This record gives sequence, structure tokens and C-alpha cells, in this order.
Amino acid sequence: MADRRRPRRSCLAVPGSSQKMIDKARGLPADQVFLDLEDACAPLAKPGARKTIVAALNEGGWEGKTRVVRVNDLTTEWTYRDVVEVVEGAGANLDCIMLPKVQTADQVAWLDLTLTQIEKTMGYEVGRIGIEAQIENAKGLVEVDAIATASPRIETIIFGPADFMASINMKSLVVGEQPTGYDVGDAYHYILMRILMAARATDVQAIDGPYLQIRDLDGFRRVTGRSAALGYDGKWVLHPGQIDACNELFSPRQQDYDHAENILDAYDWFTSEAGGKRGAAMLGDEMIDEASRKMALVVSAKGRAAGM
Ligand code: GLV
Ligand code: MG
Repeated sequence: MADRRRPRRSCLAVPGSSQKMIDKARGLPADQVFLDLEDACAPLAKPGARKTIVAALNEGGWEGKTRVVRVNDLTTEWTYRDVVEVVEGAGANLDCIMLPKVQTADQVAWLDLTLTQIEKTMGYEVGRIGIEAQIENAKGLVEVDAIATASPRIETIIFGPADFMASINMKSLVVGEQPTGYDVGDAYHYILMRILMAARATDVQAIDGPYLQIRDLDGFRRVTGRSAALGYDGKWVLHPGQIDACNELFSPRQQDYDHAENILDAYDWFTSEAGGKRGAAMLGDEMIDEASRKMALVVSAKGRAAGM
């Protein structure tokens, strides 16, 4: 069975209709690439894009990257053909299908069953292909717990801020930035936390969506820093210039990684026979115990995954 916790600090969006951008994406240092059949593809371009995506996945060159295809949402007429064409054509070279604008657990169950049918028909390993569920409107957020547990294939819950802002009539046109007039906190805090709780409760990854001002790297860092600080696993990138900042912000800082490793070493020592089998001890001026160890394990795992 696939490892559902793949590195996803940076998830690069690539229009499935652009051969040029697909070719460029292969050489970029993003942890994940998703080839898009949804909003980045015009309706008339979608049939051709399905073929371009199948060929691009089968040609390879994606080593070290999680390979994902975003299909159209289930209120459209395109979804089933997207899934059947892409998975029949390139299911052996694909890690996950991303389903946008998920509103109910039934929609995830539909995708799970359809994937199983295709896997059986094609002789692929049943259950290997994962599902990424995008939460992009109020209905999806209200149903997020059921969505997160709707299939063992679920690997990530993704916040889709642009569609979400439109769906709740938020008074801002700049995705991720605070709406004018709301000066008492972060207007996204509840949504981000709600998604994070649903993801963590069922042990899947939480991913933040896009920042559309692609030339504003300071804005990208500010907005990305918020979800990274809460504990999100990664964020979308729309432009190569956002990738390095994204990878850095979703990796621990070197001093935090070193500190986490020191806590783990100290904990091992004071809970051992030689260290007196104690439950808590001091590391410099800091008291550390079992909870400190758990926090250190999170930082250490993220650091090791980032090659620190
Ligand atoms: C992404 O799909 C978004 O709507 O933000
Ligand atoms: Mg969207």
C-alpha cells in the first residue's frame, strides 16, 4: 500500500493544457505537481488536456515528486470522463486524484468506487491511488469531518481560498489577504483551523491553497507563514518563484530542528536505566517530559523529511 504521508511542502499547479508548462514543471524543486483539468483549463481545451496529461505522466521524469491530477468537480459533466481517461491511461504513473469543490462524503465515496473499478479492470493494485479533497465552499466546510473519513484513500484536505471567498461573499478580491473593514483578527483563522482539525483527527495532511499575487513574494511569505505556523503540511504554488520560499516555510528552522534533536537525545537518556528512568528532567533552563518529546518528534520528522 502507498505511503499516504508523502512530502507536500510545495504543491505546484500546472495547467493540463500547457505542454510547455508541464515540461518545465519536471525540473522544478516542488514536492508535488498537480496537472489541472479544472479551472486552469478552458472548457474546449479539456478533452485535449486529458490526452496531454496521460502522455506526460507515462513519459515520466517526475522522480521525487508526488504526481496528482485535478479533475473537474462533480457538479459538472466532465468528472467521470476525466477520471476514466486519466486513470485508465496513466493509473500506473499517478499517485492521487484531486477532487475540487467537494461538498459531501458521497462525492468522495463515488471517486473511491470508480477508482476501484478502474484499478480492477486495468490490473492495477487496488487502493493505491489516493484522493485529495478540496474544501472550497461553506457546504464542504460544514461536512469536512465526514469528507475526511469518507475513504481510506484520502491523503489530504485542501483549503481552496479563492472559491471559498466567493462562496461566502467575503469582501475581498485578493486571495489570502484580509478583507477591508475586518480589523479584529485573521478572517481565515476559523476556516484554516476547522480543516486542520478534520485532517489531524483522521491523520491526513492539511494543505493550504494558492496565493494569486505571484509577483508579491513578501505577501506570499506572510500568508504562507500563517498556515505553516498552525501546523499545515504544505501549500500550493502557482509560479516557480514561490517554490523555494514555500519549501523553506514548511520545513523547520535549523535551530528548531537542532533543538528538537537535543530534546529527543535528552529524553532518551533520562528515561533510560542509566539516566534514572525519570519522567521529566531539565535541558538547560527548560523542563522536558513526554509531551516535549511528542512536540520534538513532529519537528524532527519534518526536518528529516526535508533532508536536514
Ligand atoms: C483553488 O482552487 C481555490 O479556489 O483557491
Ligand atoms: Mg478552486
